[in-house]
Amino acid sequence: MADISYDDEHRTWLIRLASTAYGLGLSGDGRVVRHLHWGPPCQPDDLAVLAAAGPAAHGTSRIGWGEEEPAEYVPWGGPRFDEPTLKADFADGTRGIEWRVTGHDIARDQTGATLTLDLADLAYPLRARLHYRAFDDSDVLERWASIRHAGGGGPIVLRQAHSANWWLPRRERWRLRYLTGGWASETRPAQAVLGPGKFTLESRRGVTSHHLQPYVALDDGTATEHSGEVWSALLAWSGSFRLVAETTPGGSVHVSGGWNEFDAPLELAPGDELSLPVFAGCYSGAGLGGLSRSWHAYELRHVLGDPARAGGSPSFPATSVPPGARAARLAGDGLPALRPVLYNSWEATGFDVTEEGQAELARLAAGLGVELFVVDDGWFAGRRDDHAGLGDWTPDPVKFPRGLGPLIDRVHELGMGFGLWIEPEMVNPDSDLYRAHPDWVLHFDRRSRSERRNQLVLNLARDDVAEWVHAVVDRLLSEHRIDFIKWDMNRHFSEPGWPDQAGRNPERVWTGYVRNLYAILDRLRAAHPDVAFEACEGGGGRIDLAMLARSEQAWISDNTDAWDRILIQEGFSQAYPAQAMMCWVTDSPNPLTGRRLPLRYRFHVAMSGALGLGGDLTRWSEAELTEARDLVARYKEIRPVVQHGHQHRLASTQDGPLGAVQYLSADGGRAVVFAWTGVRRFRPWPSRLRLAGLDPAARYRDEDSGEERSGASLMRLGLPLPDELDYASVLVRLRRTGISGQITASG
Ligand code: DGJ
Repeated sequence: MADISYDDEHRTWLIRLASTAYGLGLSGDGRVVRHLHWGPPCQPDDLAVLAAAGPAAHGTSRIGWGEEEPAEYVPWGGPRFDEPTLKADFADGTRGIEWRVTGHDIARDQTGATLTLDLADLAYPLRARLHYRAFDDSDVLERWASIRHAGGGGPIVLRQAHSANWWLPRRERWRLRYLTGGWASETRPAQAVLGPGKFTLESRRGVTSHHLQPYVALDDGTATEHSGEVWSALLAWSGSFRLVAETTPGGSVHVSGGWNEFDAPLELAPGDELSLPVFAGCYSGAGLGGLSRSWHAYELRHVLGDPARAGGSPSFPATSVPPGARAARLAGDGLPALRPVLYNSWEATGFDVTEEGQAELARLAAGLGVELFVVDDGWFAGRRDDHAGLGDWTPDPVKFPRGLGPLIDRVHELGMGFGLWIEPEMVNPDSDLYRAHPDWVLHFDRRSRSERRNQLVLNLARDDVAEWVHAVVDRLLSEHRIDFIKWDMNRHFSEPGWPDQAGRNPERVWTGYVRNLYAILDRLRAAHPDVAFEACEGGGGRIDLAMLARSEQAWISDNTDAWDRILIQEGFSQAYPAQAMMCWVTDSPNPLTGRRLPLRYRFHVAMSGALGLGGDLTRWSEAELTEARDLVARYKEIRPVVQHGHQHRLASTQDGPLGAVQYLSADGGRAVVFAWTGVRRFRPWPSRLRLAGLDPAARYRDEDSGEERSGASLMRLGLPLPDELDYASVLVRLRRTGISGQITASG
């Protein structure tokens, strides 16, 4: 149960999360909200001791040098030289902030407790409100700020407005883990040792990006997958972002993060209020595995789909789906409904989409037990290849002479839901839309309009363009029985101009774009609560908490080579849950890498997330179709454990040619283990795989072999691994049968 309390005597606030705590206090002069604690549970008395010790308790060097008072929200102004969270210019030429704390409020709702702290500039009408939201069932603390021009005087220009600043406790050394990649190689785990200075992760691309996730996890160099203390933060923003981990001259470390201020000053007129994205933090004392289980639990309960929460930060929808409709999106236990097994035609047909071709694929997919059939790119007017058509969102009259209706009906008759791909933020110059509205794209009047994949970006920050995008998708959803939308976006911003706003802060395009995107999605989801959404940006280029709050799942990479994918999935799992991770089984050899892998292996990799199929089923043999049918049925049986269970990463392909992951149902009664091998060289195989998280005293039955072992034995001695050479895989299903008697060495 989350609880927030204020100690009036010592002027401290203690935020008790499910099993951890966060503490802050007011400086003696009432001007700084000082960070005191983030980590294991603590008591108000502990905070009083830390508060009494002053900033030195945090390990700061002499404040006289103007350094690193651990301010929760660091203003630029006065003698401090570290990364600010807020930098403002006033109309009279003053640059810099001086403020004091003017109030605070603690409130409770059905899901947890919130704390707000009010700050006011001493001389100017600049106000900041710091928000903290704790959930009863989570160790994730959501933080963000809202900034207000309280009226009077000219505009205030914000040169930097980060969401929050996380201070870490004093340690000898800090290691920072993050997720990096590129197209077809997203979310690969990486790490760096922090030295003096700054370590920056950012996107200047207008989207979250394939290159870097807005995610950090820090430890003192000793934490492992299974043990040790880890501090982590995730930004809920789908545009350009910047996270800065700074080691100050005094050796303190803090991480400031928010949307990227590069090229993006924001002007506040009197009365304007600006809410910033959530920058959530999570501490775990149980290693990286414990940390990601905390993130997953939070995301399943409070992020994925339609988080039921009041508005505030732009990160999460303020207009949530009506309660009745929201219930339909949930499984009985309050978690998001299980994701259906999906088929997507992209790798099978490319742009060669026709009514007959899709109907044939749908027939084959239904025969395998697929539950949702998705038509990808290529269905709309003029879309022969990627040179034309984006913007003209009506069915191609040659490919679909009768419109989409008959195919949709056919798919429904086959017992499947119908899904459609769309990329509504984009336009090909070769389209009726662009011919009619060449000024609708991001551009500078006298500069080139750089195309990527032969397309330009519509300026969604313009309300008329955003209205049009909304209307296009709304019409598609209103006129057709569509159950699922794959929302794609296949290029990043360049020439981010908005010529008709010259002199009127056109740089707000960076944030205005994302805000309007959220508004479009929120309206669509509220009006069409039965439609599920998949977040996609040329694979995993726009995955973050804010997109997940508007989606049921994400397409995490265009790389469907199962061996490559194991690492992409492992990285994704550091921050996000298996339920959101759409994984397709595609053809062999893989169209992207040329690698040949057994069908079972490809399934076993994809079955560790939300299963989809993406191969050309017309070319699969009878034997392959039969095997696929059995594996889809097997997936449906383990699906609740995979999609809602607790994940334990058992072996990483970063360390050698073995990857393995285990899911444990919330009641501990069922476990599902996947192990996959790559190509072995020289080293002998680890012959056994040790499981995690089981009850040592309970007995577990292998549902295939019938063999029973104790939890202690499965965790200490492990499961035997296959002897087969190269690209072998196993799926083991265990069910708890009772409490074990004597635990023997052999189990
Ligand atoms: C990029 C996506 O990631 C692919 O899955 C596919 O939808 C293509 N776009 C279609 O253009």
